[in-house]
Amino acid sequence: MQIGQKIIRLDTVDSTNNYTANLIKQGEILPGAVIMADEQTAGKGQRGAVWSSNAGENMLLSVFLNSANLSLHQQVALTHFAAVSVLETLRKIGISAQIKWPNDIFVGHRKIAGILIENAIVNGQISHSILGIGLNVNQMDFKDLSATSVKREKMAFYAVEDLLFQLIFVLNKYWEPLESGDLGLLRSLYLDNLYLLEQEATFEDENGIFNGTIQGISEVGLLTIRKIVNGETILRNYDLKEVRFILKSGL
Ligand code: BTN
Repeated sequence: MQIGQKIIRLDTVDSTNNYTANLIKQGEILPGAVIMADEQTAGKGQRGAVWSSNAGENMLLSVFLNSANLSLHQQVALTHFAAVSVLETLRKIGISAQIKWPNDIFVGHRKIAGILIENAIVNGQISHSILGIGLNVNQMDFKDLSATSVKREKMAFYAVEDLLFQLIFVLNKYWEPLESGDLGLLRSLYLDNLYLLEQEATFEDENGIFNGTIQGISEVGLLTIRKIVNGETILRNYDLKEVRFILKSGL
C-alpha cells in the first residue's frame, strides 16, 4: 500500500472521515488514498466530541488504510503508527511534541493535533481503517485556550500542502514496520515520547481525583498508572473512558 498515491482535495465537507467511509463503501478509492479538506462542517473528535478548525488554516485529512493483517487486539498499533508519524513530521520542522495518551499530540501542555481512527471490523478482524488527523497549522486564535498550532509555536506561516507531503512521507516510512509485523518498534517510539511518563500528575477516575504516575501502557494499549492507595503502591490499567487527565491550567 502506497499512502498518498491518490490525494483528493475538497473545499468543504462534513467530515473527511465520513466522506472517506462513503467512498470506500462505493468502491471508489483504494487503500492508501488521502482525502483532505479546507473546511469541515461536522468535524469529529474522539469520544463524540466536535473537531473545530478555521476554514483553510489547518490540515484536515483522512487516510484509507488496509488492515495490515492486524488482529483486533493489535489495533493499538495503528494509534502508535499515527501518533509517531505526526510527531516525526513536527520534529522535522523543529517542533518537539509529545503524545498524550492515547492519541493527542501535545507541545508542552497544549494540543496541536488530534487523531481519530475508525476501524471496520468484519468477523472479529479489522478489515480496514480510516485514519483521521487534524493538525493545527496556521490558526492563531483558539476557543480552547489549551490548543496551539505550528504557527503559534514557530511564529511563521507554513503551507498546509508542504506539511501534508512531509506527513505522507513519514506515514509511508512507518507503515513498513506495521505491515511487516514489527509492532514493537512503533510501540517503543510511542512510549519514548509519552507525555507525563514517569512524572507525578493529577488524574480523575470513578473514585475521584488522585495523584499518580504514568508507568507505561499495557499490551493492548491501556494506560498504566501507579498510585498509592491506603499506603500501598498499586498499578491500574485504565481505558479511555475510565480516566481523565487533570491538566495544569495556564501553562
Ligand atoms: C481528537 O483529538 O478528538 C481527534 C480529532 C480528529 C480530527 C480529524 S480532522 C480530519 C478527520 N475528520 C474528522 O471528522 N475528524 C478527523
